[in-house]
Amino acid sequence: MKKIKFITITIIINLLLSSCGSTPMANEIGTNTVAQKPSATAEEAPQSYEQSSANARIDDGRTVVGISMPDKLLERWNHDGIFLKEHFEKEGCEVILKYADNLIDTQISDIRSMIDGGADLLVITAVDGAALSSVLDKAKSQGIKIIAYDRLLMNSPSVDYYVSYDNYKVGVLQAEYVISALRLEKSSRTKTIEFVTGDPVDNNARYFYQGAVDTLMPYFENGRLSVRSNQKGFYETSTAQWSTDIAQQRLQIILNSYYPENVRLDAVLCANDSTALGATRALESDYSGKNSVVVTGQDADVANIYSIIEGKQSMTVFKALRDESVVAVALGLSILSDEAPDGELIKRSGWDFTCSYNTTDYDNGSKIIPSYLLSPITITKDNLEKELFDTGYYARNGSGLIYAVE
Ligand code: BGC
Repeated sequence: MKKIKFITITIIINLLLSSCGSTPMANEIGTNTVAQKPSATAEEAPQSYEQSSANARIDDGRTVVGISMPDKLLERWNHDGIFLKEHFEKEGCEVILKYADNLIDTQISDIRSMIDGGADLLVITAVDGAALSSVLDKAKSQGIKIIAYDRLLMNSPSVDYYVSYDNYKVGVLQAEYVISALRLEKSSRTKTIEFVTGDPVDNNARYFYQGAVDTLMPYFENGRLSVRSNQKGFYETSTAQWSTDIAQQRLQIILNSYYPENVRLDAVLCANDSTALGATRALESDYSGKNSVVVTGQDADVANIYSIIEGKQSMTVFKALRDESVVAVALGLSILSDEAPDGELIKRSGWDFTCSYNTTDYDNGSKIIPSYLLSPITITKDNLEKELFDTGYYARNGSGLIYAVE
């Protein structure tokens, strides 16, 4: 069963916070201090932290974190996996990191093997948010804590917390960009848009869609915007597995069916960058109009940053993965030290990015999951250098090639 856990990490976090003071990166969680996980008892803790000693546990020297990621095909999950692993390891945890190749069964067996491997904490980004209930219940019954990472885990009371970006706002930002780029406020002509939304088994996809549709609704209602294909619903515009190829094929069919020569398409609202890649390819191969079509995205994948620089994609929504993992690690450490983290975690962490604590909006069908939500931003050609490169999230190598900094 469960390994015996270690001295409350609150002590360590507090020590780090108090001793680090003005260390360079406020969003860095700490150093190797916890790695030499003390077999100390609370009594050995410094006097001033005595009040935390109630949480102290006997230590067997191991704290195991299982990180279950959906797939390696999309750029972002590779980075998330690396960031999470590195941050947890820096804090002295052992990490089991697995990728599920986008297969539900593989993810279930990955999580089972993490439970068997002695996991104390699971950080999970689900392939299918609703398919993990029983393995989550099994974990819970063994006292393992569970954080849903980026995608909400559905229909399970066993989930402890959710860390993500404000997913609804992602859709809002995409739609606001379209409204401004197409000058819908002033337009006298009806502009045309098509939707390429995300994977329907990913709970986030609906939030992205809803944020976009709610924001665009007034323009559909006043006739300044229309969908020629009439494919407007979430499911009919969805893209299985967020696949570039599926997005491309669907848009090619739409272009050939509804946008013959001289029929103008003004925008394609793509939910993320993998679907945006498909859309830009479809536009290149199958759109005969001469106008440049507005294409949205999300993630700031490297291929899409090039696409924005080249003018093929208009914008992306950036969600700094490093920051998201910093929140998940701080939360994980807090849970492991038997705290019941809430908004205070944000206050005392002193992160240099925006994060809010939400206890109302993320209902997983079993209960409302307390959530830590970061804030996404719009990236265009105009602010890309400042927001992505000057901030150090991305860099160029000696040959000028762009890479995400890990
Ligand atoms: C994430 C996006 C990502 C998409 C496809 C969503 O759950 O929030 O950032 O683009 O999955 O992997």
